[in-house]
Amino acid sequence: MDRPFVAVAETGSIRPGKFIKVVVDEQSYLVANVDGRFYAVEDNCSHEDYPLSYGCLEGDRIKCSLHGSRFSLETGAPLDEPADQPIRTYRLAVAEGRLWLDPTRPTD
Ligand code: FES
Repeated sequence: MDRPFVAVAETGSIRPGKFIKVVVDEQSYLVANVDGRFYAVEDNCSHEDYPLSYGCLEGDRIKCSLHGSRFSLETGAPLDEPADQPIRTYRLAVAEGRLWLDPTRPTD
């Protein structure tokens, strides 16, 4: 797959219900597997710039471990206070047994 997509993981390396942190050009992202569907979001809580990779998945949501806000992995929307701003979501493709992230622009 051509640029702007970058291979970030083997498809089988993230089990359903799990996520990994990946770094592309010094930016951190979360790549999550929700029942076989993959999502990519920025690794940064919009509330206080805290790594979301310290948090946990709750279905198709990522929960920040600092103050508990949850965000939709699909849209990036905040679902709980105190966060009131979305996180960025990114295009992710599955090809050749790998997951490919487009870091060039958020999907919002
Ligand atoms: S830093 Fe994530 S909810 Fe406050």
